[in-house]
Amino acid sequence: MDNNIHSHEQWLRKHAASIRAQEQEDPVPLDLKLQHTFCVLEQARRIVASEGFGQPLARCCHLAALYHDVARFTQYLRYRTFRDSLSRNHGLMGVGILKREQRLVAESPQVRKAVQTAVALHNRFALPPLPSLMQTTTLVIRDADKLDILRVMDEHLNGPGPYCPTIVLSQPDDPTKAGAEVLKAALEGRPAAYTDLCSVNDFRVLLGTWLYDMHFAASRSSFVENGHARRLLEALPDDGPHARARDVLLARLEHVTHTQEVCHA
Ligand SMILES: [Fe+2]
Repeated sequence: MDNNIHSHEQWLRKHAASIRAQEQEDPVPLDLKLQHTFCVLEQARRIVASEGFGQPLARCCHLAALYHDVARFTQYLRYRTFRDSLSRNHGLMGVGILKREQRLVAESPQVRKAVQTAVALHNRFALPPLPSLMQTTTLVIRDADKLDILRVMDEHLNGPGPYCPTIVLSQPDDPTKAGAEVLKAALEGRPAAYTDLCSVNDFRVLLGTWLYDMHFAASRSSFVENGHARRLLEALPDDGPHARARDVLLARLEHVTHTQEVCHA
């Protein structure tokens, strides 16, 4: 067992290309998902290396990172959205694709199960209790995924605009709109939920709250060092409903930068 997943990477590229070839209107969201996939793989590799994970955990993490969003291509082609609530759960859908395409038949049963579990659960708000291999694989993928979503959102929301509705999950860009539960989560030091989003600015706050949902020292370092969360939060207005959450999260980020410790508020 080793860290070489080259044939899997090749298959994923072919799969994405075959769906892109069928897309008639706007292939850009598909291109961004492919880029995201390989960036998540890169983040996962970094976490695995810095935590010193051996086999079979390392292989589980690499395969799960590569396949975590395998369903996104079909989801977009079929349903024209990345919102699971308007289409299908893309984690569960991904496991169906992996089985149908027999992507994991050559892996050992424990690797296969851990990868399938991580793909199925990577997008759940909270995780059920899991055996160790499955749990660590899932947590690595969730951290790596969040770290790259921060990059995507920073590039998009701090770019020249206008916002692509698919990328901001069709949230309105109205600075007066704020989800009470999103703000509460930020102030209480816990991750906010997608289902509570009411606006693009809520989304910025939600991304900042992911600081409270990083499970490895390497993920926390990347979170503060890459600067994405800081830029996303700093762009929130000084007054208005998001100001207090912004200040609290920026202060927490600053604190972690200096201590590398996350203390829950
Ligand atoms: Fe995903």
